[in-house]
Amino acid sequence: MKGIILAGGAGSRLYPVSQIYSKQLTLIYDKPLIYFPLSILMLAGIRDILIISNEETIPHYQKLFQNGNHLGLSISYQVQKAPNGIAESFILGESFIGNDPVSLILGDNIFYGYLDFFYNAIQKNEGATVFGYRVNDPERYGVVEFDKDGNAISIEEKPKNPKSKFAVPGLYVYNNEVVEISKNLKPSPRGELEITDVNTTYLNQGKLRVEKIGRGVAWLDTGTPEALLQASNFFGAIEDRQGLKVACIEEVAYYKNFISLGELETVTGKMPNCMYRDYLNKVIAEAKE
Ligand code: DAU
Repeated sequence: MKGIILAGGAGSRLYPVSQIYSKQLTLIYDKPLIYFPLSILMLAGIRDILIISNEETIPHYQKLFQNGNHLGLSISYQVQKAPNGIAESFILGESFIGNDPVSLILGDNIFYGYLDFFYNAIQKNEGATVFGYRVNDPERYGVVEFDKDGNAISIEEKPKNPKSKFAVPGLYVYNNEVVEISKNLKPSPRGELEITDVNTTYLNQGKLRVEKIGRGVAWLDTGTPEALLQASNFFGAIEDRQGLKVACIEEVAYYKNFISLGELETVTGKMPNCMYRDYLNKVIAEAKE
């Protein structure tokens, strides 16, 4: 399974900071937002990852992650010239995907909690698997409608009158057909290749599974200053309470056996003196106990 993180876009709701850097680099409490989606892919065992973003931001991601080898990953990069739609990921990523299945996560989507819904989807996926998450404001998202037996019967992008409270989060699992399906899409009235049109194609072919995510999982939005503050407070509270970090990618790499303890020590040793390094030194010390 390959993994793609789509981390471009204008981020205009975060103006004025959006003039100089991208939303996915903003701090969520103590680390850049993109660490969260990256760690979700890593936790699912995905090690071959493509980061897609605009030309100005790609060098920043390259500086952050290089080729990913220090995390036991292979990370490559692809420029998206303009925000032509989420489904363009599969066209830009065609050679990276090759003949494999692929998971896509949006660089501004945060999930926290019991992630089995995603691990199971990767195991079981045949066509496409997307998720349904109950929200208060479904009209802001792709919305999935279920029949009385719980089968998905429609998905609409930002409907004025949502047919359910279930939004489709920005985390998707596809078989290799997604590349051809995306290539055959026509831009929507807002001029984008819509991920909802990809999902509707699978639905019409009877190849889409929609799994509801339980309320024990947090799916957080990060589109506005208020949402960023809420997410920072949320993770600040959890990290402070447990003394454990969420989305600490070096720790995840070690926990998943992508790197050895010695490699974790080497990576940590290169960090400047800071709380993040102190935390990793604690992880290393505990691993040696
Ligand atoms: O967050 C989940 C929602 O994401 C889904 O429920 C919707 O079905 C899906 O269309 C999408 O809706 P958004 O309104 O959040 O999409 P937005 O245009 O804001 O793009 C999501 C992220 O992807 C954003 O951080 C920018 C980035 N992006 C977006 C597009 C369209 C790109 O990097 N390139 C793009 O071409």
